[in-house]
Amino acid sequence: MCGIVGYCGVKQASEVLLEGLKRLEYRGYDSAGICVGEGGCLTTVKCKGKIRELRSIVPVDLKGTYGIGHTRWATHGEVNDQNAHPHSDCSGNISIVHNGIIENYSVLKEKLQSDGHVFKSDTDSEVIAHLVSSLYTGDLEKAVKLAAPLLKGTYGIACVHADEPGVIIGARNGSPLVLGIGNDEMFLASDVTAMMSYTRQAVYLEDGEIVRIDAHGYTTSDVTDRAITKKIEHIDWELQEIEKGGFPTYMEKEIFEQPLSVERAMKGRLDKEIATGHLGGLNMTSSELLNVERVKLVATGTSYHAAMVAAYLLETVARIPSTAELSSEVRYKNPVVERNALHFVISQSGETADTLYAMRELQRKGARVLGICNVVGSTIPRESDGGVYIHSGPEIAVASTKAFTSQLTALYLFTLLMARMRHLSFEAGSRILEAIESLPGLIAQVLSNADAIKTVAHKYCAHGNFLFLGRGLNYPVALEGALKLKEISYIHAEGYSAAEIKHGPIALINEETPSMFLVPDDRLRDKVITSMKEVKARKGKIIALAVNGHGDIDEIADDIIYVPKANDILYPFLMVVPLQLFAYYCARKLGRDVDQPRNLAKSVTVE
Ligand code: AGP
Ligand code: GLU
Repeated sequence: MCGIVGYCGVKQASEVLLEGLKRLEYRGYDSAGICVGEGGCLTTVKCKGKIRELRSIVPVDLKGTYGIGHTRWATHGEVNDQNAHPHSDCSGNISIVHNGIIENYSVLKEKLQSDGHVFKSDTDSEVIAHLVSSLYTGDLEKAVKLAAPLLKGTYGIACVHADEPGVIIGARNGSPLVLGIGNDEMFLASDVTAMMSYTRQAVYLEDGEIVRIDAHGYTTSDVTDRAITKKIEHIDWELQEIEKGGFPTYMEKEIFEQPLSVERAMKGRLDKEIATGHLGGLNMTSSELLNVERVKLVATGTSYHAAMVAAYLLETVARIPSTAELSSEVRYKNPVVERNALHFVISQSGETADTLYAMRELQRKGARVLGICNVVGSTIPRESDGGVYIHSGPEIAVASTKAFTSQLTALYLFTLLMARMRHLSFEAGSRILEAIESLPGLIAQVLSNADAIKTVAHKYCAHGNFLFLGRGLNYPVALEGALKLKEISYIHAEGYSAAEIKHGPIALINEETPSMFLVPDDRLRDKVITSMKEVKARKGKIIALAVNGHGDIDEIADDIIYVPKANDILYPFLMVVPLQLFAYYCARKLGRDVDQPRNLAKSVTVE
């Protein structure tokens, strides 16, 4: 996902904008640019590539105390200098940056071109600059308010005019925009990380809201000019949380942060007195929770794998029929909303377009939808009917790791809550609660084995194909392990049910295609070992993730990565961490950009 920054104040804007864009790099982008205003004119500098390349072409004497900046993740128009943002109108007096997609840009562009507007880029975004220009009669805020209703699609916009020095107009519809309040300076950005060096006072815009900022303050209103009073929120993340903390990459930091992040996800939510979980944000009474007869969990990517684990656990432990579904499928399948169904949307960023629109579709049909999110104030938690923040702290690396285990923690607590309201005894509930409480220590044990995992990764990272195989609660973990390897090492990997390989994928087995088997010490252990033998018989190389080598594993596996013995329901946590590290060490060995893998974005806010 791309980023927006804006600044009005007393500092030289170019430096503030470049630093802000640097802090948004983790969101994934392919080009960047800034526009700075001074003395009645606007200067734009933009290019394909990284912030460091942009910085290298910004004139050192570029003066100006207000401006806007952008990191682009292309949706319309190839990645090149011309299509980078900011975009201006024909006069060069208006400059805009845009996050999102303008669905009706072709129609608008044709009309504007017929009125004589000359376009310089192939993007959808440029149409905004010309549209605002065509409606400008001396008041930029008014022109933006006239233009906004004509735009179909999603946008977060920041806009300046040379004739209104020191003023930035922001508009939000579907792409996040947040205001930062400083002393005699104001900030605008896609998320708070861009402004945390300067302020912790934030105002989150909602869809349909317009903001006018200058160095001394701001006003918020809607397109009909109705004034809107907004709550000022305090940002309680520490800056170092978004730094690397001594690790070489954000991803390694976040993998090793999991004992702490999982602990944070359960903090204040374990009730030993009655052996249950406490989740304050559900906004549901006990009787409403007891009436739930079905749970549907909706998400994409890694969050979808968390949804799959949760669906399995809710059905087996809480005995509630539960399913996990892909956001993009739910949105367009005309979903059936059953009377006593409870829906969850799971999203680390809280901004994933597929998941946001799936939630809106379900709510339109009368569904109660709860969010499991990480980013406070993001769109999904603000529009959901309640939910749980996972408190894993900012997850900067594009590949999700600590958010996954924190999502699971929240969903395990929900399962315990629902099970104890139904059939689960106090004793059984206490055992589950103790198991959950032991997670930080168990994950720390797994992490202490990192060097052994690195050795195995380096041994196998030259292979071009992998199979990841697991069963039951660990089948989604096999999918997640395959996704991690794919997205950061660019090695092809497929996750499969271990039992399913004999129905086709075993045709792929040869000495060049290693298989990673998840072999927890649970009741399916022997079944998984049978699948391992089928692979071995065809000379397939096998890496086993196991508690020990007993029961033929020693003879069958070429390498074993050991995990601690634990309550069966904990193995998804204990198996995913070695898979995260396996993918990470493969990718590092191959010289990949693990924090910002090619083609990927941290949050996909476009469909
Ligand atoms: C996971 O490593 C990927 N970055 C991606 O699949 C991600 O999980 C997916 O885009 C969902 O993001 P969300 O949790 O922010 O909605
Ligand atoms: N759709 C716009 C473009 O392709 C903006 C994409 C973005 O959000 O970065 O330039």
